[in-house]
Amino acid sequence: RMVMKKSLTIGIIVPDITNPFFATLVKGIEDVLFSSGFMTILCNVDMNLTKGKKAIEALNHRGVDGVILASSGISITEVLNQELLQKIPIIELDQQVTTQTFDSVRTDDYRGGELVATLLNDTKHKQAVALFPKDMSPNILKRLVGFTDNFNGQVEVLPTELSKQSGKEMVRTILNTNATAIFAANDEIAFGVYAGLSEVGKKVPDDYSVVGYDNIEMSEYVYPPLTTVSQPIFELGQKTADLLIDRINHPDKDETELILPVTLIERLSVARP
Ligand code: RIB
Repeated sequence: RMVMKKSLTIGIIVPDITNPFFATLVKGIEDVLFSSGFMTILCNVDMNLTKGKKAIEALNHRGVDGVILASSGISITEVLNQELLQKIPIIELDQQVTTQTFDSVRTDDYRGGELVATLLNDTKHKQAVALFPKDMSPNILKRLVGFTDNFNGQVEVLPTELSKQSGKEMVRTILNTNATAIFAANDEIAFGVYAGLSEVGKKVPDDYSVVGYDNIEMSEYVYPPLTTVSQPIFELGQKTADLLIDRINHPDKDETELILPVTLIERLSVARP
């Protein structure tokens, strides 16, 4: 790869800047980059492929030294053409593609899904719904597979976007199932579910147990405090920035794949049915 270090700027592409997951993530990235003398250009692409492509091209025109693609909405192979791939160091964050090798940093999504399954098994749930996007990025798919592989009861997967609104809208559908437990692909969906359930007079965890994913700060402050899987979000950002700087300084080194651990944070949103 031909890399000329020149602009001391890095592009960060995120799918949804209103989701606090990405605020904490960018904070971690920026923390490392800033102290190493890099400025960041942040692009929000609304989980939109066309916007993602345009953002990468624009970043390339500005001569960025590298790009961090933090996307659960768009996949790296779709946004990048080969020419750009040769030119700019790119770190793929929080997803894993199989077709091409990049440096990548992610968390143990399979294990996260497994932790949720174990919790719901232990609390004797037999019917669960999983609220997951229709077009899942590889990391989020692993999360779901970790869950379905290990949950002893029945799981119905209901296609839900990674947003509060989509979680709220899904409540009508959930009410028509026999589920006693709801596993949301991220905390944002879980917050939407909380709102939707309270609108129809249903209580968490008395009527439904709810488990989120991410452990964004807010999950501790909703009522009842949300049981969720914690990703080391800030550290994920820091490690990604470290890796990118290392790549810029050593363009020909072997690709690295980092997987960070996750933990279950048990709060008050899960009970026996
Ligand atoms: O909330 C955003 C989700 O997209 C997170 O779970 C993260 O892992 C990302 O892929």
